[in-house]
Formats: sequence, C-alpha cells, structure tokens
Amino acid sequence: MTRHIAAIVLCAGKGTRMKSARAKVLHEVLGRPISYYPISRAFEVGASPVVAVVGHQAEQVQSTLEDQFARRTLQFALQEKQLGTAHAVLAAKPNLEGFDGEIFILYGDTPMLTAATLKALRKAKRARKAPLALVGFRPPNPHGYGRLVREGKDVARIVEQKDCTPEQTKIGECNAGMYLVDAGFLWKALERIGKGNAQGEFYLTDLVAIAHESKLPVASIEAPFEEVSGVNDRVELARAGKAMRQRINERHMRNGVTFDDPDSTLVEESVKLAADVRIGPNCVLAGDTRIGKGTVIGPGCVLTNATVGENVTVRAYSVFEDAKVSRGGQIGPFARLRPGTELAEGVHIGNFVETKKARIGKGSKANHLAYLGDAVIGSGVNVGAGTITCNYDGVNKHQTVLGDGVFIGSDSQLVAPVTVGKGSYVGAGSTIVEDVPPNSLAIARSRQVTKKDYVKKKRAAG
Ligand code: UD1
Ligand code: CA
Repeated sequence: MTRHIAAIVLCAGKGTRMKSARAKVLHEVLGRPISYYPISRAFEVGASPVVAVVGHQAEQVQSTLEDQFARRTLQFALQEKQLGTAHAVLAAKPNLEGFDGEIFILYGDTPMLTAATLKALRKAKRARKAPLALVGFRPPNPHGYGRLVREGKDVARIVEQKDCTPEQTKIGECNAGMYLVDAGFLWKALERIGKGNAQGEFYLTDLVAIAHESKLPVASIEAPFEEVSGVNDRVELARAGKAMRQRINERHMRNGVTFDDPDSTLVEESVKLAADVRIGPNCVLAGDTRIGKGTVIGPGCVLTNATVGENVTVRAYSVFEDAKVSRGGQIGPFARLRPGTELAEGVHIGNFVETKKARIGKGSKANHLAYLGDAVIGSGVNVGAGTITCNYDGVNKHQTVLGDGVFIGSDSQLVAPVTVGKGSYVGAGSTIVEDVPPNSLAIARSRQVTKKDYVKKKRAAG
C-alpha cells in the first residue's frame, strides 16, 4: 500500500550568521532563494501538502516563495517566535490536521539536497518499519552540527554542539537535518519535547531520544557532505553556489552540451538545453530558458526566459528576456531582445539592435543599430541601419506594421501607428508619418541642395 507523504520545510529562522538585513532563506543560490531548493525536492518526491514554516520576515519570505511556486500549491504556517526547530514543526500542525501518513521534515537552508536522498530515506524507514528516519553525514569539521550518538547500530539520540560533552564533540557523524516521520508519532512526541538545553530551545532532534527510549527503531542513512551541509554564512553560500553550478553544468555536459568554460557559466536549474548546444564563457542562462539542438551561444550572453530554436547562432554579449528565436536565426553581437520579441525562422538581428513586442517574419533582417518596438514585420523584410520605430507618443504606445518584402532605407523613423504595405521601399533618412500602400516608394526628407563652387567663391570674397 502506498502511504501518503507530506512535507514541512522550516524557513522561519533569522540566520544570524549571515549578518544580513535579509532572512537567510531568501539569499540566493544560482538565481533562486536557498529555500526554493528543498521545497522543490519535496514536491519532486510527491509530497502533498508541502508546508513552509515562516517567521522571521514572514511576509517577504512567504511572498517570495509564492512567486517561486506560482504553479504549485505551497502552504504556509506562521511561527511567530523562533523558539527552536521542534516549535517550528508544531506551527505546521493545523495544516496537517487529519493527515496520518509520513512527513518529511526539511530545513530551508540546505539547497544541495537531492530527491534521491529523500527516496533513500523513505526506503530505509520502511525497511526498518521505523516511525522515524534521519540523514547523517560526516563533515570535514563537525563543529556546530548535532552529533549522532549511537547505541549498537541505532542512533539513540542527537546532541547539539553546545550540549556536547568533550567526549561527544569527538563524534564525526552528524545530523544533516532531514527526517521522515510518522505523523502519529511526531505529534505525540513533540508534546514531550522541552527546552532544558544549552540554548533554551525546543530541539526537533530530541525526537530521536524519544523514539529510542520508547524502544522504537530509528532508521538512518548517510549522505555526502556536499549535498546536505547547510548554508549558515556567506562563505557557505558561495560554496553552495559553486557546487550547484557544477552539478547542473555537469548534468548538461553528460547530456551532450559543450561548455567552453563551465566554471564561468551560470545555468539555473530550470533551464533546458538540447544536445550539441555550445555555450561560450561567462554566459548566464536563467528562468525558463530553452535552447534547441546545435545552437551556439557566444561569450557573455544573458538569456532569461528565452526560447531559442535549433541551429541558431547567438554572438557575443547578446541579452534576451522573454523572447523567442526560431531555428536558424543569427543574433548579435550586442543584440538586445526584450519581452514579446518573436522571431521566425532565419531572422538576422545584428549589433546594437533592440527589439520589444516585435513579431518578425521569416528571413527578415535588421543588422545594425535599430529599435523595433511594438512592431509586426513580415517575411523577407530588410530594415536598414539606424531605423527607429517611434512607438511612443508620450502617452500611448502604437504599432508599426511592415508588410512582406519591405525595404526600409537606413536612418529612417517610422512614426507609429503606421503601415508600410507589402513590397514597398522607404528611402534612406525618411520620417514616415503616413501609411505607405503596397509596392510603392516613400521618401520623406528634404530635397538636397548643392551649391556649386560655394566654398571657392566664399574664400575669394573673404
Ligand atoms: C540544526 C540541527 C542540528 C543539525 C543542523 C544541520 C536542531 C536543534 N539542530 O542545527 O542537529 O546538525 O541543523 O544543518 O534542529 N528554524 C525555524 N524556526 C526556529 C529555528 C530554526 O524555522 O525556531 C529553521 C531555520 O530557518 C533553518 C532550520 O530551521 O532553516 C535549521 O535551523 P538552524 O538554526 O540553522 O539550526 P542549526 O543550528 O544549524
Ligand atoms: Ca543550519
């Protein structure tokens, strides 16, 4: 029989050692708050509900996590005063009223945790028919962690650093702070936890001694230090960022992605890369970015929520945000594709070209120094250097429409709302304020005046 699993993730602490005005769980590792990761892992193993306990800066923490999990139902519980980890778990009791399955309890400051470890924990607990299972690890320096005190093969209790006898400080096996526990056992045991310890806090770790004293088995697994060590200060934050970057980039490399310099390239967890994508040094790929087969991203590019098709070339220092580029596109260097940009197959966007809310048809080109905003551009269009869509009249935004095969001469302004019909030409240097019918030539600039021998005459007079 499959048992229901819920999760409680503790995110209420202040994180004193961060020395920050911001709650620890909101500090970011690779573009996401630290607490995003353990919560995601809980969802990943199918926990429902998942309850985040908030307290310190509760409003900011809750609203940030609501944004992060906009598409899932993350519940919240408030721990008004931070009286310890056991007290924090109690705050989530009303959320789990009537729930009698198993509950993962995770700490919000362990970003590197994997779903595989949570699954192993579940397996170990069920194999031992234990009401409680925990994760141990062996840090290079155990100072600061709770120590696992074993009697026989079972963990009999966890002793926090500040409560350790000199003998106990020598124990190398520590508590990672992830548990799986039967709901029935948990709520009963929590009633018995007091705060008679060095920190005067309600320690969740006392669950272990309670189980042991009741002659109930306690299951345990061991996880690698790099995976379960928490973030307590900024050195550990940087370390977690680096480890996360390596983990993600290695996964992509094994799936056929080339990184010219994986150490300098930041790829957020949510990004999807197809095989034979190649990424230059110093790129940042963020949010829901997706990149298709054979696409090459040059050095220094920043892509956020970008969808890039197959065999696209993105040259150095291009920036995309909420933009879509179809197969065979040639973008950059120094191109800026802003939200609402949608480029059809084979579009060329060159250096110092900015696009915003611009739909551009197959094979069209804007290769140099242009601004294309609120524009609908057909296929086979050539936009000359220095072309500007004047989309804003100071109050409202207006649209520019260019039909298929249009040619816009260099240094032209298209004052929207305006339409240039299919196949028409606009002469260089024009300011177009009226619609141009199809297959026409529009020139809107003053006629050239050439005064022959003007300079010669002026000098002679002078
Ligand atoms: C805790 C464990 C310790 C373990 C270590 C692993 C206890 C008593 N100790 O110690 O055995 O080795 O984690 O990293 O559990 N929190 C709340 N409310 C509170 C207190 C804490 O929500 O009242 C949250 C924090 O935001 C944090 C997590 O619980 O995400 C752990 O708290 P922290 O103070 O970092 O515990 P440690 O001292 O690291
Ligand atoms: Ca901690």
